[in-house]
Amino acid sequence: MVLRVYRVSVSALKPGMRIGRSVVDATGRILLTAGTVLKPSYIQYLKQRGIPAVYIINEAAPDVSPPEVVSPETRTRLAAELNQAVVELREVMATRGEASLRHWAGVQLSRVREAVARVVDEILRQPQAIYHLQEIRAIDDYTLQHSVDVCILSVMMGVSLGYDERKLRDLGLGAVLHDIGKVTVPEAILKKPGPLTADERAEMQKHTTRGFEILMRCGEFSFHVAHVAYQHHERWCGGGYPRGLKGPEIHELARVVAVADVYDAMTSDRVYRPGYPPERALRNMLEVLPDWFDPRALAALAENVAVYPVGTLVELNTGETAVVTGVVKGRAARPRVRILRDPAGRPVPEPWEVDLAADPTYWIVRTLTEAPPALTPELEEAAGLMD
Ligand SMILES: [Fe+2]
Repeated sequence: MVLRVYRVSVSALKPGMRIGRSVVDATGRILLTAGTVLKPSYIQYLKQRGIPAVYIINEAAPDVSPPEVVSPETRTRLAAELNQAVVELREVMATRGEASLRHWAGVQLSRVREAVARVVDEILRQPQAIYHLQEIRAIDDYTLQHSVDVCILSVMMGVSLGYDERKLRDLGLGAVLHDIGKVTVPEAILKKPGPLTADERAEMQKHTTRGFEILMRCGEFSFHVAHVAYQHHERWCGGGYPRGLKGPEIHELARVVAVADVYDAMTSDRVYRPGYPPERALRNMLEVLPDWFDPRALAALAENVAVYPVGTLVELNTGETAVVTGVVKGRAARPRVRILRDPAGRPVPEPWEVDLAADPTYWIVRTLTEAPPALTPELEEAAGLMD
């Protein structure tokens, strides 16, 4: 995977950067075309027009690609099996009713389970791998890709928590199916771009109990997997749904998936806001929302995610601009970087690399990606993070 364009906030733009995607205003008029080299006057213009961020071409890093935790084939296969299972489940629910549910489970869910087993195998073979963000993905595809990413991240967290292979498979299956109850939620609610009304929210929240009912009726699947669907919106401090359980009352696997679910939701682009950069998402969870999560699960998340994923543009304490080229597990906040621009924003003639873990005179000041508004639980709840 090669990350070629990055979202950079307008306040962090520097002359000489190249626009990666055309910038359009609300009416669709092109303000700057892709490929344009930024000048100070263009940056000023973007600020005047109230454009928050643009995509910039990552000219320095065509050879930089984050290591894959799970091979693209395995990831694609899991997405495809899940997609097929969801399509068939909709049909079963709409036309044939309960008797077919067990047949569906025997055929479709068995295939999903096999795909999850492959994910677990690959993760177990790479204990040093660290979780990177995926390339910008289509918002339309959100639930499918989100489920796959939550599965991969949950299994990695489960490895940190010392789970055996059997438990990891239950965790992975529960994670990939955590939102399966959404097949019963009307599309108009699922895809509504704005905040939901109270009635719509109540309907949306039923995806937990409905997912539980579907999986329990399937027979074939373990009680634990169904409980992930049931309890992934419960909160450690209470106040979640559907039952407002607290602390250890919540199923252990559901506590892990709750953390992965919120992290992935925060770092994803949504219709109503761009994704938070990983370091901001992690900080939000550790500082703003820590009561929501089992502290052990939260620690397992922090251990596994790349705070500054490979390919991230960052500003160093020296004022230089750099791109992250390597991340080592356990030292995620001090990655290896390649210096691209001097403090004045001029490209350096020959970019060179610095290992921040080995050179204490350098550190990262900020990520040059867009910073969405500061998180408040109210804001995120209103916007749908809780769903
Ligand atoms: Fe959910």
